[in-house]
Order: sequence, then C-alpha cells, then structure tokens
Amino acid sequence: MTTTWAVITGAGRGIGAVLARHAAKEGYRVAAWDLDGEAVRAVADDIGEACVPMAVDVTDESSVRSAVAELPAAPSLVVNNAGIVRFGPLLELAAADWRAALDVNLTGTFLVARVAAERMIAESTGGAIVNIASINGLAAAPGAGAYTASKAGVVMLTEHMALEWGAHGIRVNAVAPGLIDAGMSDAIYADPEVRRLRSGRVPLGRLGTAQDVAETVLFLGSEKAAYVTGQTLAVDGGITRGALNAMPRARSDASAD
Ligand SMILES: NC(=O)c1ccc[n+]([C@@H]2O[C@H](COP(=O)([O-])OP(=O)(O)OC[C@H]3O[C@@H](n4cnc5c(N)ncnc54)[C@H](O)[C@@H]3O)[C@@H](O)[C@H]2O)c1
Repeated sequence: MTTTWAVITGAGRGIGAVLARHAAKEGYRVAAWDLDGEAVRAVADDIGEACVPMAVDVTDESSVRSAVAELPAAPSLVVNNAGIVRFGPLLELAAADWRAALDVNLTGTFLVARVAAERMIAESTGGAIVNIASINGLAAAPGAGAYTASKAGVVMLTEHMALEWGAHGIRVNAVAPGLIDAGMSDAIYADPEVRRLRSGRVPLGRLGTAQDVAETVLFLGSEKAAYVTGQTLAVDGGITRGALNAMPRARSDASAD
C-alpha cells in the first residue's frame, strides 16, 4: 500500500493537534508543522511513528519550501490550520496586529497551499487542500476586524484556488469552525457564565469540539467528497445561519420577519 501524506499546519496544540491525531488514525502519515517546534514534537511523540514533526513558519516562504521539499512524496491532503487572533476595535487596532493576522491566516494559507500544489502538479498526483477559516470569515464579530477580514480572505482564496487548480485534480475547500471549546478559545470558555450564554445561542445547544472540526476536515479531504470543491462548510451547530434565533415574535406568530 502506498503511503499517503497529510500536512497539518499549526499542529502543536488546539484543533491542529487533534487533527493530526485523527489523520494518523485514518491511515495518513502526518507531517505536523508548527512555529513552535517543541510543542509539535511533543504532539508527534504522543501520536507515534505515523507523525513526523517539523518547525515551520507558514509566513516564511523559504521555511515552507524546505518543508514541502522534505516530504518523500506530494501530500494527498494539506490542512491550513495555523492561525492567530488579534483582538481590538478597528479604531484602536495597531497596524502590526492587523498585519500579523493577515500574514499568518491569509498569506500563510496562500504560501503553504501554493507550494504544496506546485508539488502535486509536478508529480501529477492531484490532492485535497482544506483551509481552516472561521464563522468570523462569514459574519462580522465585535472587536475582531483583523481576524474576520483575514478569514473572509481565506474563504475567497479557497474559491480561487479551486477554480485555478481543479484541472490538476486538486480540490480545495474550507471549514469554518464556530464556537469551539478548544485552542485559542480556551480562555473565553474558562468562564462558566460565558460558556452557558454562548452555548444557549447555538441551535444544537452546545459548543463545538476540535473533534467536530477534524471529522469534517477529513471528510472533505477524502474520496467521499470527490466532487466537492470551492466550498466553505460551517461546523457551527447552526449558529451562523441561525442569526434570527434570538428575534422575538408576536404570540400569534402570524407576521413574516
Ligand atoms: N478555537 C476556536 O474557537 C476557533 C474557531 C474558529 C476558527 N478557528 C481556527 O482554527 C485554527 C486553529 O485554531 P486553534 O484554536 O487550534 O488555535 P491555537 O492557538 O490553539 O493553535 C494555533 C497553532 O498555530 C501555530 N502557529 C501560529 N502562527 C504560526 C506560523 N506562523 N507558522 C506555523 N504555525 C503557527 C501556533 O503555534 C499554534 O500551535 C485557526 O486557524 C483558527 O483561526 C479556531
């Protein structure tokens, strides 16, 4: 049986670490990349020999090029998961924070996907790319303007890559996680009142998990999604499409919104 490689960026913690574990369980050899080399080595040690860790900065094209060149074959699956958030209202946001969010979330996704796609094309293998966006790329959120703009960029970049690379057998989709009880949101959900209020707004009645995200990513990366490309799939318990959930209605319920 041939070895199929999955590249997971930002695999040193949070959703990426769970993704790496799921991908290994699904039979991939996992190239687990993170800026934090020590963290990703610990994740790989835990997963076992199916996982090969590497310190990679997704914003640095030469770092990405050497990491892709080190893979024994073109990857079958690339998950652009590395991401950062920089909070602050736009009137106060430092330009450095704006640039950092755009650099990691959008430029990093572009660089990793492009270098991986070059290799898929050179080896005529095709492949699947899944970009991790956010529901914040589908709807604005208070104090998160740099993050929302970067993630909306990921959604459009996904469509564009799908358009340009489809002829090479490369499918490109995005997953937009919602209120996820993991990773960068750990601090938010440490407050039980915030957990209660936020969970109560989700039509499915609970926060999402890193596993929820990983299952969808692996579906989109698999042959089961062979005719799906250019899509962004929200893994959000219905919250983005349930924006009118909190609207009061007249008792008779007779009038339209
Ligand atoms: N956790 C959530 O609530 C949530 C919700 C929606 C979307 N997301 C998205 O999911 C993805 C993973 O988020 P998470 O919550 O696991 O975050 P996290 O902060 O726990 O992990 C992100 C990882 O990315 C790595 N990273 C940061 N900059 C990097 C760079 N330049 N090069 C390589 N690696 C880098 C970090 O070292 C870290 O290990 C992100 O793209 C995030 O925007 C998360």
